[in-house]
Amino acid sequence: MTTVVAYADAAPHLRDGLQDVFTRASEGSPAGALWGDAPSEAAVYLDPYIDHEPESLLLAVTDGAVVGYLAGSLGTASFPSESELIDAAMREHQLFRRRDTRAFFTRAMRDAAGAWLRRRPTARELDDPRWPAHLHIDLVPEARGTGVGDALMEAWHARLEAAGAPGCFLQTQVENERARRFFARHGYVDHGPAVLIPGVRHRGEITYQQTMVRDGAPAPHPDGGSHP
Ligand SMILES: CC(C)(COP(=O)(O)OP(=O)(O)OC[C@H]1O[C@@H](n2cnc3c(N)ncnc32)[C@H](O)[C@@H]1OP(=O)(O)O)[C@@H](O)C(=O)NCCC(=O)NCCS
Repeated sequence: MTTVVAYADAAPHLRDGLQDVFTRASEGSPAGALWGDAPSEAAVYLDPYIDHEPESLLLAVTDGAVVGYLAGSLGTASFPSESELIDAAMREHQLFRRRDTRAFFTRAMRDAAGAWLRRRPTARELDDPRWPAHLHIDLVPEARGTGVGDALMEAWHARLEAAGAPGCFLQTQVENERARRFFARHGYVDHGPAVLIPGVRHRGEITYQQTMVRDGAPAPHPDGGSHP
């Protein structure tokens, strides 16, 4: 039996469990191929959700333990952009100076320069008022294919609807076929072309980012019905 609880309402042991899940949740998935330093990756993809929107950080709990999470944002202006967060993590964690992380960022610069020369776009966050909200979802390997992901997505969509959010986007890798099928099943459709993700490799190959979007529920009509 799985329950979903917001980080804001979660007991301390569940909050602690989340850190563990964060490091395990991208195992065996193309999504795990970043620069390989958990504290600085959390500074971009987890900590800001705890600090800025703990009500939108949803934890899936099975048998008393966290087995997955959905880090969401309604897209308010106060939430920092992904590029701001990466820049801050690079500075604070000295990622360009450290031998274990320097190779990733050097490769990322080389990839970005090559794409620029060939006039090819590269991965960047979507900034479109039609889909201001966004999400990241990760499950530990043993929770995949059990319905836990569905429970998180349903809870997130209920939150978006309650907040009146016009729409939500997410960004995944073209190579992450399982995730793309999962998101399509939850109503997300491809938006724009697949674009190169600088620095990231999966099985030694360059990977591409696909943005997917989902419209929110139509706003209720002032007379109580809904728009045609
Ligand atoms: C992407 C991710 C969240 C998808 O969740 P998932 O549970 O693996 O989703 P799937 O669609 O693969 O699993 C659904 C399958 O589980 C099974 N399933 C679904 N609900 C079930 C339930 N209640 N009980 C048992 N099995 C169930 C079904 O067989 C279904 O297969 P189908 O699509 O052929 O019908 C998850 O795989 C994950 O965390 N991956 C690693 C991190 C990652 O890639 N994150 C996304 C980055 S953008």
